Amino acid sequence: MSVRRFVPTLAGILACALPAIAGGAELPDLERGRALYENHCVVCHTSKVHRRIPQLPLSMEDLRYVVTVWVRNEGLRWSRDEIEDVVHYLDRTHYRFEK
Ligand code: HEC
Repeated sequence: MSVRRFVPTLAGILACALPAIAGGAELPDLERGRALYENHCVVCHTSKVHRRIPQLPLSMEDLRYVVTVWVRNEGLRWSRDEIEDVVHYLDRTHYRFEK
């Protein structure tokens, strides 16, 4: 048995990272979005912040951007899928960009 066995290979790293990169094709999980939002975002604002006039995000792309900024800002390591879940949860519960 050689030490080399324990060195992660590029293929191994890609195999772990690819599902996260390729993900997003499946439907958003609104329940997971709600749980993530309630656990990590409600520390600062209640959902009232999403009913402000004028609201900050004006499109699905804006909302995705704002959510991503907050996720990074908080040092959270959410996958793209998890970010999508929260984006869709907030859209469904407040913004309604996607009819
Ligand atoms: C450190 C406190 C804090 C945390 C944690 C936080 N937010 Fe915020 N959030 C704010 C503040 C303050 C504003 C209003 C900022 C402004 O006016 O630009 C805001 C605004 C927003 C808006 C825009 C609201 C609108 O319609 O105008 C979104 C979307 C948002 N936050 C999402 C999130 C998400 C998702 C998380 C969790 C990943 C999160 N926030 C975590 C403080 C926070």
